[in-house]
Amino acid sequence: MEKLVRFLLAFLALKATLASPRFSRQAELDTYDDTNYDVDIENLELENQDMYDYEEGLGENPEMEIGTVPPPDHSYPSPGASLEEEEEEREYEEEMPLRAKHVQQGSGDSGVLMGPNTQKGMPTCLLCTCLGTSVYCDDLKLDSIPPIPKETTHFYARYNRLTKLHKSDFAFMSKLKRIDVTANDISSVDEGAFSTLPALEELVIRENHVSQLPALPVTMTLIDASHNEVDTRGIHKEAFKDMAGLLYLYLTDNHLDYIPVPLPDSLRSLHLQRNNIQSMHEDTFCNLQDFNYIRNALEDIRLDGNPVNLSRTPQAYVCLPRIPIGALV
Ligand SMILES: *[C@@H]1O[C@H](CO)[C@@H](O)[C@H](O)[C@H]1NC(C)=O
Repeated sequence: MEKLVRFLLAFLALKATLASPRFSRQAELDTYDDTNYDVDIENLELENQDMYDYEEGLGENPEMEIGTVPPPDHSYPSPGASLEEEEEEREYEEEMPLRAKHVQQGSGDSGVLMGPNTQKGMPTCLLCTCLGTSVYCDDLKLDSIPPIPKETTHFYARYNRLTKLHKSDFAFMSKLKRIDVTANDISSVDEGAFSTLPALEELVIRENHVSQLPALPVTMTLIDASHNEVDTRGIHKEAFKDMAGLLYLYLTDNHLDYIPVPLPDSLRSLHLQRNNIQSMHEDTFCNLQDFNYIRNALEDIRLDGNPVNLSRTPQAYVCLPRIPIGALV
């Protein structure tokens, strides 16, 4: 028992230590204006260095006390957090709602280092964590996407409170390769939000309330929209046909009642567990006109949890390296 108490005390003390810089950082931030962020970028060489190098760099400049603050604590809320802590958290929220600004999207106007300013005048890379060209805005209670530095290649905003993705959120982000907005409350996405991103390869929009999958560029390699409310009408006709490099298509736990054909030959994994797919066609995967056609890549098809009897269409799998997983009885 004594051990347990000691452990708890140590844990709380650790938590307090971890949490406090966040609060004091805010106080510091409020007294600084934008000009304090003018750091000598050439001497910093942020590219491909980790956060600790970056902080040491800042530490050399005595005026840049702000740089000695550790990166934001990204741990998810612990179920054991005491009421007191929760209270504190709420006060903090009221003082400083972390709302991002809608203008200046991707304008990068306050310099490469800290990224563009958010609504509160805080540069995105202080609100979020920027490592090289990756930007991590996980678990920050965000209700909109902050302006992202133009050179960003990987963007993460998991475990936030986003409800909608706008076309302007990622406009002109010509380097963006991966967007991950797992576990938000997104129920709508502007039709053009992703379609004009020339380098986009991976979209992870798992665990949201999306019913319409917007148009995606043909450069996609991975699409994960599992645990949403996508139904048959929510996917464009032949949406995936021209994605010649598509490898992974994950649509588990949605409301689809058909397999979104045609699927590109590149596809390796198709996950459609727990949808409402009731029928399978003989030409869903294979080509009935050409019996020499082999779909080598597609070795992982999951159809379990759908009301479909795979035994009814034995010809549908002749071109596949493996029979799909699902009910065969
Ligand atoms: C599934 O299809 C096979 C082949 O047509 C049939 O023999 C079997 O009874 C079907 N099973 C169910 C549960 O409908």
